[in-house]
Amino acid sequence: MIFRLLGTAAGGGVPQWNCGCSRCATARTGSGVSVRTQDGAVVGGDGNAWALLNASPDLRAQLLAFDAFAPTTATRKSPILDVVLSDAELDHVAGLLLLREAASAVRVHATAAVLAALTHAFPVRGVLEAYTMILWNELTLGTPVYVADGAARVTAIPVGSKRPRYAADVPGVDGWVSALRIDTGVGTRGVLYAPCVPEWSPQLAAAAATCDCVVFDGTFWSDDEMIGSGWSSRTAREMGHLPIAGSDGALEHLHALSGTRCILTHLNNSNPLLHHDAPERDVLEEAGIEVGVDGQVVWCSPDAAGPPARTHDDDAWRPKLARGVRLAYDSVRGVDVLLAPENVVRLNVAAAAALQRCDGVRRIDDIVVSLRSAFAHVGGAHDDVASLLGRFRERGWVT
Ligand code: MLT
Ligand code: MN
Ligand code: ZN
Repeated sequence: MIFRLLGTAAGGGVPQWNCGCSRCATARTGSGVSVRTQDGAVVGGDGNAWALLNASPDLRAQLLAFDAFAPTTATRKSPILDVVLSDAELDHVAGLLLLREAASAVRVHATAAVLAALTHAFPVRGVLEAYTMILWNELTLGTPVYVADGAARVTAIPVGSKRPRYAADVPGVDGWVSALRIDTGVGTRGVLYAPCVPEWSPQLAAAAATCDCVVFDGTFWSDDEMIGSGWSSRTAREMGHLPIAGSDGALEHLHALSGTRCILTHLNNSNPLLHHDAPERDVLEEAGIEVGVDGQVVWCSPDAAGPPARTHDDDAWRPKLARGVRLAYDSVRGVDVLLAPENVVRLNVAAAAALQRCDGVRRIDDIVVSLRSAFAHVGGAHDDVASLLGRFRERGWVT
């Protein structure tokens, strides 16, 4: 199973079409703030079956950006078999309208509350019926359902009762906001996808404790962020989002999860973390928490067969830097750095030397031989280089 982020911004995206704040302005003009589409992810198995987690208004661009979704024949067959919704917010459901072009049935899984919103308040259910075949499946909280032709199993964990503004009159209190726990089957560890989290509950903590990776609500850095910018009179918590910083914030709770990879998504355009050189990034890095990037593969189960699989034959692998990734020398700090679309990574001498040799021609053995001749004092053992480059490959920086 593979878990990949499609979009990592909150509603409006980065830049938001009508926003001239410093984050949006920088994202428009160049480097320093990455462009982000609205939150969503995908899980799949062998590449022929995928399930979307949320359907953002940016879904079309997200689908076009991922090769695995490209139809392989002259038919209109798509490998997207399911859509699982974490809530009914417009930034997570407006993309459902794009399903109207579907030529084969797509199954949409959502809780009773979310289905009610999509039936009565934003009646996309009735609208789509005139265009295509959607199978609506009611998710029962806590009961897993298999998706993507059995490649993954999804369990909705209740995290909140905030309903979307447009659905104020839809009855019911349960099942409005869920975290989705994704795994491959009984007893396996997995990924917790939780883009909207109003509070750190015992149930959420229990789910996180059984996962290798938590993709978490990174909407707001601080509780008063929207008040400070004059955009709202409500705090992050009042808007249904646990802020990252501060007492009882996401950072504190995620940091306490030992051995779990934590990645933030659903970043609002007010969030200072969007600036690549923000001091808030250093605080996160210190805590070992990552800022997600659109298109990032965040988790592969050991048996994953689809791209990018971990079943690489390292002996035959000829590593090269991924598209958009390059090496540079930071003359101010006097260090080599790897520049990826979202990250600037400081490299030690050995890592920089190995990466400089990733030209798509040399195999790992060749790189080791070259390192030995350049640095007589450095061991450059095959396994060290392979594991270093393997880690960079997992991050998507080397292919
Ligand atoms: C949220 O994440 O809180 C919602 O998407 C807010 C909104 O866009 O109305
Ligand atoms: Mn949202
Ligand atoms: Zn902005």
